Amino acid sequence: MLGISAGIAAYKIPSLVRLLKKEGASVRVILTPDAHAFVTPLTLSVLSQEAVLSSFVSEDTDNPVWNDHVALGNWADLMLIAPATANSLSAMAHAKCNNFLIATYLSARCPVMIAPAMDLDMYAHSANQKNIETLETYGNIVLPVGDGALASGLEGKGRMLEPQEILEHTIHHFYSQQPLLGKKVLITAGPTYEPIDPVRFIGNFSSGKMGYALAHQAADLGAEVHLILGPHSLDTDEAPFTIEEINTADEMHAAVFNRYHMMDFAIAAAAVADFKPRTLASQKIKKEIGTPAIELIPNPDILAQMGEQKKNQVLIGFALETENEVAHATNKLKRKNLDAIILNSLADAGAGFATDTNKITYIGKNEAPKSFSLKSKEEVAKDIWNEILT
Ligand code: PMT
Repeated sequence: MLGISAGIAAYKIPSLVRLLKKEGASVRVILTPDAHAFVTPLTLSVLSQEAVLSSFVSEDTDNPVWNDHVALGNWADLMLIAPATANSLSAMAHAKCNNFLIATYLSARCPVMIAPAMDLDMYAHSANQKNIETLETYGNIVLPVGDGALASGLEGKGRMLEPQEILEHTIHHFYSQQPLLGKKVLITAGPTYEPIDPVRFIGNFSSGKMGYALAHQAADLGAEVHLILGPHSLDTDEAPFTIEEINTADEMHAAVFNRYHMMDFAIAAAAVADFKPRTLASQKIKKEIGTPAIELIPNPDILAQMGEQKKNQVLIGFALETENEVAHATNKLKRKNLDAIILNSLADAGAGFATDTNKITYIGKNEAPKSFSLKSKEEVAKDIWNEILT
């Protein structure tokens, strides 16, 4: 959402719209009524490919239509006000809702970035500086001004940053909110089922919730996420990432190594069955034959192989323990060549399999273990990504 107030720098905003569009942004423009004198709605509409709004009510119709500033304020991921005149800064600082731009600003729930532009003494005036400070206390991001020739003929501070500089601040803002933007993340989750016969399997109690929460958080942080998920009953309809469903450890192994080489991060939250039956009975085993002996053979240790093949990936494992937890987890961290391991213990009530909560200790390579309290798996996923990224 780009708000333009009535300063001479407004003539540069069409090129900012072009730069933002080139980066893939959807741009909607609001002009204050007086800004029309500096830049035309038609130019901005052509470049943004959207109607440009200025007033609370559309004027060019027999049936006036209310322009919904509340919906616009909620639509935006970022509101950028450039140029922001002394008058607009004052109205924003004091909630003086005297035009459509200020009403949208007051309704916006997204971050707001402001590029002030005015003459030397206006910018330096204590009243204006106080307004800027006030806006910063509201959490608004106030960009610096340029130093140089001003429209009045004076020289000094007050120029709006150039469109390219504003674009860079915008990109930086999104990257700082989404540190995984442009990164690829692979996550394994859930159990594996190792079939004995057409109706029976060896499995475990994993629900996939922990891995799903990690995948969701990674997507929220901007990553392109691929989740390899064992048998589950999660509602995945709204997942903002791709999901590949598998049943057995061998299928999970194949799915992982199809992609692992392309990944920036990999987290193994799955509870992979360590063993599988040597043979798969083609028919249901009948109880009349007596109690069968099922010979087991080892499954591949997927995470250990990921550790062996690790190049630039950040590789994180889980350890589900029942005793001597930190020692066992640290051993796995080293043996599997991991960057960190997340320990959860079945000795802790509310932790581990199938619960909506977990209690973890994060053990980074060469770092002291860091323990967290019992939290929802969504909150635990945030803590884990926080640790990975710091
Ligand atoms: O799915 P939920 O119900 O939400 O439960 C979450 C969880 C308890 C399953 C999860 O938090 C967890 O601890 N996952 C790992 C469980 C496990 O198998 O731990 P492990 O200590 O046996 O294995 C160590 C690591 O090696 C794990 O990262 C595991 O994915 C991996 N592994 C193990 C065996 C194997 N053959 N291949 C592997 O890749």
